[in-house]
Amino acid sequence: MSQTSLVNVELKGDVAWVTVDNPPVNATSTGVRQGLVDAVAAVNGARVAVLQCSGRTFVAGGDMSEFDKSPVEPHLPDVVQMIEDSEVPFIACMHGNVLGGGLEIAMACAWRIAVHGTGFGLPEVNVGLIPGAGGTQRLPRLVGMEAAIDLACTGKVLKAEEMLQLGAVDLVVDDLEAAVESFVADLPDRPVPVSQRSVADFAPDLIETSRASLKKRAKGQQSPLENLTALTWSQKPFSEGQPMERARHLVLRQTAESRALRHAFFAERSVSKPAMIKDVQPRSFSRIAVVGGGLMGAGIATAALTAGLSVTLIERDSEAALAAHDRVEGLLKGAVKRGKMTEAQCQTCLSRFRAVDSYAEAADAELAIEAVFEDLSVKQQVFTELAQNMDANAILATNTSYLDPAEIFAGIENQTRCIGLHFFSPAHVMKLLEIVHTPQTAPEVVAAGFALGKKLHKVSVLSGICDGFIGNRMLAAYRRAADYLLADGALPHEIDQAMRDFGMPMGPYELQDLTGLQIAWANRKCNAATRDPNERYVTIADQLCEMERFGQRSGKGWYRYEDGNRKPIRDPEVEALIEGYSAAQGTTRRTFTAEEISSRLLAVMANEGALIIQEGIAENAEAVDMVQIHGYGFPRWRGGPMNYRKEIGSDVSRSVMLTVAEESPASWAIAAQTKAP
Ligand code: NAI
Repeated sequence: MSQTSLVNVELKGDVAWVTVDNPPVNATSTGVRQGLVDAVAAVNGARVAVLQCSGRTFVAGGDMSEFDKSPVEPHLPDVVQMIEDSEVPFIACMHGNVLGGGLEIAMACAWRIAVHGTGFGLPEVNVGLIPGAGGTQRLPRLVGMEAAIDLACTGKVLKAEEMLQLGAVDLVVDDLEAAVESFVADLPDRPVPVSQRSVADFAPDLIETSRASLKKRAKGQQSPLENLTALTWSQKPFSEGQPMERARHLVLRQTAESRALRHAFFAERSVSKPAMIKDVQPRSFSRIAVVGGGLMGAGIATAALTAGLSVTLIERDSEAALAAHDRVEGLLKGAVKRGKMTEAQCQTCLSRFRAVDSYAEAADAELAIEAVFEDLSVKQQVFTELAQNMDANAILATNTSYLDPAEIFAGIENQTRCIGLHFFSPAHVMKLLEIVHTPQTAPEVVAAGFALGKKLHKVSVLSGICDGFIGNRMLAAYRRAADYLLADGALPHEIDQAMRDFGMPMGPYELQDLTGLQIAWANRKCNAATRDPNERYVTIADQLCEMERFGQRSGKGWYRYEDGNRKPIRDPEVEALIEGYSAAQGTTRRTFTAEEISSRLLAVMANEGALIIQEGIAENAEAVDMVQIHGYGFPRWRGGPMNYRKEIGSDVSRSVMLTVAEESPASWAIAAQTKAP
């Protein structure tokens, strides 16, 4: 009948088959929208039209690359309306994912049939938007307000089976084609279009309680609340609510929040393909060894087992091996308890796992990850043993936080196979993996690191070597800047509150108390000899450590804690110590507003990030932003410190950085990008 390149229409008897073919995810790009308009015209005369998609999924969203531009006709809401109004009723025939515009189209069809396991959702909230083609108006009419809130406000994806229970799909089947054929043979009466139905009654306080809990979880992000508001418009006639939704959707496309979230979305994909490994085939591996089964080693082993790898964990002696085994088993059992895996899956993982005290047992592993004590000679000894026992080509990786991997591997033959794989704690949970290449690491080994990251569902970021790599180096700068603020007049709770207000899950001092002050203290002691003597060095944190105020675990740190309670309580002893420090330095303490505090700390982070890029440690701003979002809790809806700097203006950020640098002379390097032009 009619054909465009992206949407084909074929008449078989009195049934029109409309097939969208826009790989990879059949996004509703301009061509698909036009193709659908043509298809609605082309199916005229048929008894029924079946809308399906080629490839791996039904329409799984919009084309985000079009979101920065002015919308181009035909607009999706009009296309969706045409499908709903079509004289020939449509059946949505779905597999894969039915997301965003895909769900909006499906809801305009008279019937919905899905293959088992198909996912349904309105993920616009994840990119700072509300749907723009009736999603928030039709969904509550179809599934009820409560489920609609779940989908639209949190981005939750429901399976076909759950949608069936909600009455939102007509059939869930194994064989889609056969099911559609028998369905069209005996077509039920055409139901009332979804847009003309009314929303079923719901609890009177549902909207307000949802608003309160969404607000709490969103930590400053607006889109969950925007979606909630739009959902409430579904109580108006569709002809009123739908244009309101569309207008708001177009406004939100222009917001900093949506730009930031889209930046994060694209950055997540681009960082996994750094230039260094373009067109490089990674080495394959299925068996890995982990050396050291403490906090990190156990987490890494758990992540690898969960991803289907076989793991041999090597500890110092049989007792430590047993303890490591228990630790890993405990983490896997914890996943069962939280419903993340079944007991049977847990047992399969354990069957691929052994904890031993002999390097000979690692002989067949293709990759070894070391996570022993942070001590150069201990690590060097581990790699000597691994090199002796493993294949000469096996990949050797260190999880060191601060040591120089090049030094760790110094004695190893064939250092092209050596690499840093820096996991974050807890390693089976945290998304970030810094992949650290030494000057000698071969690209295929770097590519293997990225392949491992992908298997483990991590966001992997390539880093060169510097103190703390990308993330911990920025953290050190952030903390140093915060300490200067303390010394000049701010108090820990003011700094923490300012950063929370910005959207951080925690401020720098609460976070130190949570993770413990010892590691950073040890690191500062290590660096004491090489620190520039002219650099301003605030000793307050060292003094706390000397007083054995190591944080929550010791009951006190920057704050004090009551037994069994993690809530930080201001401690006059600490505040007196801070004020005493300022007095001893001859500093007249001044007040800092929350805005001054956060703008300074963010300018420092962006400056450090720019230096890291300038030095070639990070490939680009996306890499820095992904490290901060996935390893350090930087609010995703702010896009990361580099995106935030771009958003407020690099010159604004630069001038704040210059003020920070002026206040503490000889303490800050200013990145070239942030120097006066
Ligand atoms: P940990 O002290 O919890 O565990 C170290 C484990 O290594 C212990 O179980 C110990 O028995 C074992 N071990 C020590 N020497 C060994 C040897 N020669 N052979 C076999 N096993 C040996 O330490 P954690 O926190 O797991 O740290 C391990 C490494 O990971 C360190 O390099 C650390 O800097 C790094 N790291 C730590 C992070 C953290 O948040 N704790 C985050 C990222 C990296």
